[in-house]
Amino acid sequence: MDLADRRLGHLLEPIPGVEDRPAKAPQLGGVLAQRPKVREIHAAGEHRPLAAHDHAANRLVSGRLLEGGAQCEHKLAVDRVPLLGALQDDVTDRSAVLGCDYGHVDRLPALDDQKSGGRLVQIKKVGVLGAGLMGHGIAQVAAQSGYEVVLREVDDERLEKGMGRIDKQLARAVEKGKVEQSDADAVQERIQRTTDYSDLAECDLVIEAITEDLALKLEMWREVDGIVKPEAIFATNTSSLAVINQAAVTSRPDRFLGLHYFNPAQVMKLVEVVRAVTTSDEVFEAGVEFAQANGKLGIATKDKAGFIVNRLLVPYLLDAIRALEEGVGSISEIDEAMKAGAGHPMGPLALADFVGLDTMGAICEVMYEEFAERRFAQPPTLRKMLAAGWYGKKSGKGFYDYSGESPAENSALSG
Ligand code: CAA
Repeated sequence: MDLADRRLGHLLEPIPGVEDRPAKAPQLGGVLAQRPKVREIHAAGEHRPLAAHDHAANRLVSGRLLEGGAQCEHKLAVDRVPLLGALQDDVTDRSAVLGCDYGHVDRLPALDDQKSGGRLVQIKKVGVLGAGLMGHGIAQVAAQSGYEVVLREVDDERLEKGMGRIDKQLARAVEKGKVEQSDADAVQERIQRTTDYSDLAECDLVIEAITEDLALKLEMWREVDGIVKPEAIFATNTSSLAVINQAAVTSRPDRFLGLHYFNPAQVMKLVEVVRAVTTSDEVFEAGVEFAQANGKLGIATKDKAGFIVNRLLVPYLLDAIRALEEGVGSISEIDEAMKAGAGHPMGPLALADFVGLDTMGAICEVMYEEFAERRFAQPPTLRKMLAAGWYGKKSGKGFYDYSGESPAENSALSG
């Protein structure tokens, strides 16, 4: 019996609250008739709890559209709520949830209406705030996918540094024969550089990738919100901060979501699509579609600190630091062991340097505050490195020293 079957097994039993519904209650036989479709959904990897209003269940499976059955999926969504476990904070945060409230089914827009796109601005022009480690990659990916991009930085120096990275990646791709020079030129031409927020006014989607500092992000959104056209969608690339906190300071919390890319954005396949409690279904769907249009896998996740990947990845990276502190292995031994033993492309300490120790430190703080668990706390070594200004690869020193031809272990951390 596979996971889907085990879950589906529950469908054979009466569902609390459903059996005593009169005429409108779904017939068990009707549900069972849809079993292959349910299996299809689960097999495709959707494991999040569903809300009763979640008519998108059949559409948001690993960012793929599953065909048809809108009506029966509505019904299934109602039936599946008690089967898939606690809804946690969704229950308090959203209105049409649980209770097998059949009223909501009639209120749901038809799937065809959802796809008509009439209510949302079509995304053609994308603003990217921040040309740093993530921002330049997000801008490049969007431009490569055919979008007009406005890349904004606080000053020319940072802007040129970000554009320099893009130019380098494109030149490398041309050199390898993966891209024609004319295409690379076209990508560069699609990216408008600016230090002025007013150039974002006509963007259909604005993605922020500035420093992981809530106060800075809020200040930025307050300003940008007054400039960018009201129908545009806003997205944050935050790694760990609550999306709702940012959405709430704008005049468009329903048009606000998280689009969390991974470093290097040009290479990593995933975009976590984060739904704040205020995000409308249409905007959430537009986020998934945008990720797909950028050649990414958009995976839906809840607005919980660290979302999916950092929730699992960060404690692993921190444990590697603790293992180093305990002398389990040297820096390179720990890294080489995880590469050779677990098939990871990078060892955890090299990855921590790559992500940026300052970014990791900020993520830890948010996650520790949210979960109050030791596994999210900054180990003493990380705290000392941050105090020393060793932020990893970006600053030239972290667990490795990047000043030479190839990275060497940071000798100050040995022994
Ligand atoms: N920018 C753009 N492209 C890059 C790149 C970069 N910084 N680094 C590598 N690439 C491209 C290369 O051009 C190359 O492309 P082609 O295959 O088209 O030639 C490809 O990636 C492979 O690169 P390399 O051969 O040079 O090196 P590699 O095989 O060692 O791969 C890597 C490099 C892709 C970074 C790989 O080591 C890797 O996947 N590491 C793990 C990265 C990871 O886990 N990222 C997630 C971090 S967590 C995060 O980002 C979330 C957060 O919130 C903190």
